[in-house]
Amino acid sequence: MSGHTPQRVLVTGGTGFVGHHLVERLRERGDEVTVFDVTAPGGAPRPGVRTVEGDLRDTAALERAGRGVDVVYHLAAVVGVDQYLSRPLDVIDINFSGTRNVLDIAARAGAKVVLASTSEVFGKNPAVPWREDGDRVLGPTTSDRWSYASSKALAEHLTFAFARQHGLDARIVRYFNVYGPRQRPAYVVSRSVHRALNGRPLVVYDGGRQTRCFTYVDDAVTGTIRAADEPAAAGEVFNIGSMVETDMGTVVGLVAGLTGRTAVVHVDTAAALGQSYEDLGRRVPDNTKAGKVLDWRPETSLRDGLARTIEWARASDWWLALPDSGAE
Ligand SMILES: NC(=O)c1ccc[n+]([C@@H]2O[C@H](COP(=O)([O-])OP(=O)(O)OC[C@H]3O[C@@H](n4cnc5c(N)ncnc54)[C@H](O)[C@@H]3O)[C@@H](O)[C@H]2O)c1
Repeated sequence: MSGHTPQRVLVTGGTGFVGHHLVERLRERGDEVTVFDVTAPGGAPRPGVRTVEGDLRDTAALERAGRGVDVVYHLAAVVGVDQYLSRPLDVIDINFSGTRNVLDIAARAGAKVVLASTSEVFGKNPAVPWREDGDRVLGPTTSDRWSYASSKALAEHLTFAFARQHGLDARIVRYFNVYGPRQRPAYVVSRSVHRALNGRPLVVYDGGRQTRCFTYVDDAVTGTIRAADEPAAAGEVFNIGSMVETDMGTVVGLVAGLTGRTAVVHVDTAAALGQSYEDLGRRVPDNTKAGKVLDWRPETSLRDGLARTIEWARASDWWLALPDSGAE
């Protein structure tokens, strides 16, 4: 990209879904990228990318990976409904203590930090659309479902606390239902595409009435990089999400139409996931702030994003061979 001064960048979680796309974009503009991830990268090594395999809880390994960096994009986390239910302790430990370690090394290196947070922090606040300063409305601690939202909210508090007490230059992005190529088949879009292309019926939960605001991964990456680059973003949090609300039945219908797979089964969530899971009716961002401060707006329609995701998936046998980690 013209006019960009290359930077030394650490991407935690750079092997994961959003991280992979972010690393590609940073590399394209000439940044020197180190990935820190507990999961080894698949496929051929990426030129210009150094990969350090390690756990966020291993401070020494993290410290070595982050030596001399200018910017840290902190994306590593335990993510996904199946994970909140099966690994609630790791969710808290990694998303909270891991973030503390990342902030520590960034503060010591004098690096800027972008924390990847989530729309989940708003919980079940019924007053959509949610502005960044909207209230958090969460369920009880007896429901593991809320461990992720709580761990990420605490990670946000930690980030602001480091900014205040240690002068850390930190920015936070809250993603809303990001989808696209490479996403683990455990979410409505990725799982529907995965099932359709594997010749399995698509699944609609609870009549498909719940809505989400689906955000294509390329748009999420653009918002993330702008949050790092924009001086006025320091100390701020941004909703990075489309404001177009789509119900689950429509999403599954679009995937069915684009793949030519029409068999659909209906599942009752409480029966499938147990009472420890509580799903939300609506989740809608107000993305005005990202528009004003970052000049960011989502540019990819759901139909186009789905078409691109499906085209990629058709050519990606390794991904089609992944187990379907859905809950039903
Ligand atoms: N995808 C979305 O819709 C979405 C929505 C809201 C927020 N987010 C946030 O964006 C970030 C990236 O999410 P994603 O969808 O790419 O998830 P992902 O699961 O694909 O990627 C997370 C990465 O973190 C790594 N990781 C997990 N535990 C680790 C540990 N202990 N040490 C080091 N690495 C570890 C994993 O190996 C994985 O590569 C996360 O912080 C997530 O909370 C994503």
